[in-house]
Amino acid sequence: MCPQDLARETPKNSADCSPKEKMAKLEKQIERHNFLYYSQDDPVITDAEYDRLLRSLQLLEDEYPEFASSLSPTRRVGGKALESFEQETHKQAMLSLDNALNNEELLDFERRVKQKLDSDDVLVYSAEPKFDGIAVSLWYENGELTKALTRGDGNVGEVVTANVATIKDVPLKIYGLLETANFLEVRGEIYISKSGFAELNEEAVRRQEEGKTGSQAKIFANPRNAAAGSIRQLNPKIAAARPLAFFAYSTGSIENIPALQNLECHSQMMSWLARHGFPVNEHSKTLQGMQACTSYFAAMQGLRDELEYDIDGIVYKIDQLALQKKLGFVARAPRWAIAAKFPAKEEVTQLIAVDFQVGRTGALTPVARLSPIQVGGVTVNNATLHNRDEINRLDIKINDYVLIQRAGDVIPKVVSVLKDRRPLDSQNIVFPKQCPECGSDVEFIEGEAVGRCTGGLVCSAQTLARLKHFVQRKAMNIDGLGEKIILTLMEDLGVSDPADLYRLNFEKLADLPGFGKKSASKLAEAIERSKQTSFARFIYSLGIREVGETTAKSLANNFVGVDELRMAKLEDLEAIDDIGPITAQHIYHFFQEARNSEVINQLLEFGISWPRPAASPAQTTEQLGTQASLVLTGTFSTMARDEATSRLEQLGYKVTGSVSSKTAAVIAGEKAGSKVAKAKKLDVPVLGEEDLMRIIGGDMQIMQDLQSKD
Ligand code: IVH
Repeated sequence: MCPQDLARETPKNSADCSPKEKMAKLEKQIERHNFLYYSQDDPVITDAEYDRLLRSLQLLEDEYPEFASSLSPTRRVGGKALESFEQETHKQAMLSLDNALNNEELLDFERRVKQKLDSDDVLVYSAEPKFDGIAVSLWYENGELTKALTRGDGNVGEVVTANVATIKDVPLKIYGLLETANFLEVRGEIYISKSGFAELNEEAVRRQEEGKTGSQAKIFANPRNAAAGSIRQLNPKIAAARPLAFFAYSTGSIENIPALQNLECHSQMMSWLARHGFPVNEHSKTLQGMQACTSYFAAMQGLRDELEYDIDGIVYKIDQLALQKKLGFVARAPRWAIAAKFPAKEEVTQLIAVDFQVGRTGALTPVARLSPIQVGGVTVNNATLHNRDEINRLDIKINDYVLIQRAGDVIPKVVSVLKDRRPLDSQNIVFPKQCPECGSDVEFIEGEAVGRCTGGLVCSAQTLARLKHFVQRKAMNIDGLGEKIILTLMEDLGVSDPADLYRLNFEKLADLPGFGKKSASKLAEAIERSKQTSFARFIYSLGIREVGETTAKSLANNFVGVDELRMAKLEDLEAIDDIGPITAQHIYHFFQEARNSEVINQLLEFGISWPRPAASPAQTTEQLGTQASLVLTGTFSTMARDEATSRLEQLGYKVTGSVSSKTAAVIAGEKAGSKVAKAKKLDVPVLGEEDLMRIIGGDMQIMQDLQSKD
């Protein structure tokens, strides 16, 4: 055995060791990373790096089978179950999947399959995204969910039934199986959507800022860790509060369900599951031959960022179950399936320096300057470090090696620090005592994770950030006012607050370098157009601390106009559902500030206005859910109408048989008839099957949108 520290070792620099020593060392490394990934939800290397380690070991084992350990990690899947949960042996082992990292490896896979089948016929594949969540096995006895197990080590998993039962996507009963004695195991992935994850972390940051600790103040590195962490909570109330969701991707053990057991293809099984209330991914497809698979891969790679959930590749399964049986398994994976991975979106690079950016409220945000690195095809130079708590959480120092992640179009972020690789010359990150922009003192308020520049109106960085916030699309939507132009307006025309934008002298503007008559008049038009807005946008544009789009909407729903809002007492604000005491304070203080009121008056005088809504009381999501009455009509391809009805009722909706003016929406499937016509006559919205599946999946946005259109 080589004497070097295992944790620091990479296979590259183990050239001096014998194959046997190399293998033992790799095994140790992989075991450790398995433990960090599966048991601690705290990986320190990228998936790509992990795959490289596993592959190096696999290659050596292929070459020197005599040295391969019987407990080698290439033969096992994942990590040990946590002690604190009850454990249960899987009816059938939950295996892993072999990876193909490029087209050649995919073709190799097909070659192996054809060889084993001794046939050159075109193969039919069932293809679907590889979800980046946590695998579960669901046991249904006589149609009722009796057990949910994590994968654990592949043979024994943790019993997490109480947590899984909180997930709305997971049917608690399978209608049609309740009357007979039978057993069905459904396997799939539990995940958290990208938006659910963002909200979860935003809430955690808010709670941390309020000085809270505990599960609701925990910031997760990525949706996968958030999903895994939530499923491993001993208290199911915590899991219930997390936006967990589920996709079914296969069945396991089945007893006495002939309709399912007689099916010939995996894809038919998935349709059966979909018809019985299981969420099956809408992008699943059956494909003929590898070429179709390659096109599908490219198409899905293009869609990846738009999807509401993380995927890290495509899984191809031989569709015919008889062929699957023939092909069987190797040690840790089936021979009939393969995962084609997308290029990594996580990479390791070095933190060179930390700069501090001044925001519109004076908050100093530490920004990591990174040694440039390609992540998922884009060069990353910077990443936000958010605040002091985040720096403490990461325990990050200048010169550290850090794991960078880009998820979708989200700003790159520092996921973790590779402590094992911390250089000797690493340095602590020091917060400045003076504003790097205007030199005013920075104040640190107790309990707040950020320092703030006290420069206020004299700090040009704050002015710039305030103006940028005001003009952005989500706010007043003034097209053509990028950072550079705002700076010109500030420096050459003395613009210092939003109202100044509406008193701009466009002749003077046209004379400025880089401007002309045409661009000046375009900007004038955009500014004029922005005057017609909505109350929620206007509130959001003011840049009140802690008031994002959602809070702005709540405020707009709860107050008739600006005057009511600025006269609101602290209690009035706190009484609003989604507004906590700290946000309420920020709103209250914002309107107490005479200067803010003055700017608002000026903006209104310049003609900023919005349509007055018909007075309708604000409704909470819960109220909406229970009040909304729906009518189903026609047939649906994914679910029988009575199943859909009972699932909607489980969620608290009222499902009725006839359309009236009180009906919130009619959901129409194929061959819908007179009810749609009646809905149109009564101006009741008509939704489709896709909307139905989203509502059943717990998505309340659709109903809220309908409500807000009223
Ligand atoms: S099928 C015999 N389909 O990938 C294994 N697995 O490396 C059959 N996974 O932890 C698995 N998406 O949870 C299958 N569409 C999908 C998947 C999928 C994600 C996960 C699975 C397992 C891992 C295997």
